[in-house]
Amino acid sequence: MRTHRIAVIPGDGIGPEVVREGVKVLEAATTRAGTFRLEFDWLPWNCSYYRRHGRMMPKDGIEQLRAYDGIYLGAVGDPSVPDHVSVWQLILPIRKAFQQYVNLRPAKLLAGLESPLRHKEARDLDFVIVRENTEGEYSDIGGRLHPGTPVEMAVQTSVFTRYGIERVARYALSLARRRRGRVAVATKSNGLAHTMPYWDEVIRSCRVEFPDVDVSFYHVDALSTLFVLRPETLDVVLATNLFGDILSDLGAAVVGGLGVAPAGNINPEKRFPSMFEPVHGSAPDIAGKGIANPIAAIWSGAMMLEHLGHPEPAAEVVRAIEQVLAEGRVRTRDLGGTASTEEVGDAVVRALEHPRPVGERPR
Ligand code: NAD
Ligand code: IPM
Ligand code: MN
Repeated sequence: MRTHRIAVIPGDGIGPEVVREGVKVLEAATTRAGTFRLEFDWLPWNCSYYRRHGRMMPKDGIEQLRAYDGIYLGAVGDPSVPDHVSVWQLILPIRKAFQQYVNLRPAKLLAGLESPLRHKEARDLDFVIVRENTEGEYSDIGGRLHPGTPVEMAVQTSVFTRYGIERVARYALSLARRRRGRVAVATKSNGLAHTMPYWDEVIRSCRVEFPDVDVSFYHVDALSTLFVLRPETLDVVLATNLFGDILSDLGAAVVGGLGVAPAGNINPEKRFPSMFEPVHGSAPDIAGKGIANPIAAIWSGAMMLEHLGHPEPAAEVVRAIEQVLAEGRVRTRDLGGTASTEEVGDAVVRALEHPRPVGERPR
């Protein structure tokens, strides 16, 4: 039987709380499938590690991770460490080192959830954001100039490479081909007159290989209104690193919030491990209370199963989440309930083990 080795990085804040439930559900799904095994190694790389060692992960952290088939992460970030330090020493190096150039962020209204958008139902809210995840605005070229003088300044140079744009564009275009055939590209070629016209131009050059896919370009400001007013027109949204980051929290908000928004940082060629983590962060405002919603983390785990070649157990986990949401009794506070993080995880495991048609009330 195939064993997949998974590096678990619970991280900070609510990270460990939601990851615990995610691993619990992954173990239950794996046992049920009976066709593969998961072996978890827990890596304590977070802000307390930083306070002890002066770094977020060991010097050879990336080398250690290379040996795994997947990485399952909660979130990092603690008020005691500057955010740019915690993410630039852990998440961003992992995304870049392992060429996880696709950050795949489904925005799908699950059965049992209500959108905050009036009159919008599940069939109106099913799109996926493909966020470029290794370059663009998240470059480390820059710094402070003339510190302490009246002309002090900070610069950070965006980097867009043909190679980087082409590979993420091709991924988005071929994903659209397997969905409803539409790509909405987020651009800002009016304001960012060097980088964004180039982004558009390279995407247009890839588009000829996909004549059956409908591609539309939108300035990101205007595109954000479609998320709210006409989400049913969206299928695949292709965005740069920063625009994709912002749009993915908006995408989460229209389908129930950050508590139910999953993500995968994917190396499509599978040359390197991919990393699965919720869209949300470490939520210091609710950490330690046992009230964080674990659904985003559990669903991210299902995306990992799918990536590892197990689409059926992955679909079973999503179905179990929907069963719990549709029954409506076990929900965390962000979804209007009173259940704890652990109770939601347990309910998803029960729903996996006792599947009922989604929406049918338990007797
Ligand atoms: P956040 O996503 O942590 O929180 C935003 C809001 O959403 C908060 O009110 C929080 O309570 C709520 N929320 C988030 N996840 C929730 C869940 N599962 N259940 C219920 N409510 C939830 O974003 P932030 O406040 O901007 O960032 C907090 C810290 O997390 C910062 O240090 C930031 O750098 C870090 N961060 C890390 C990641 C990551 O590790 N991938 C992602 C985003 C932010
Ligand atoms: C995310 C987060 C990260 C990002 C932060 C923590 C650097 O917001 O995964 O969406 O901007 O990519
Ligand atoms: Mn984000």
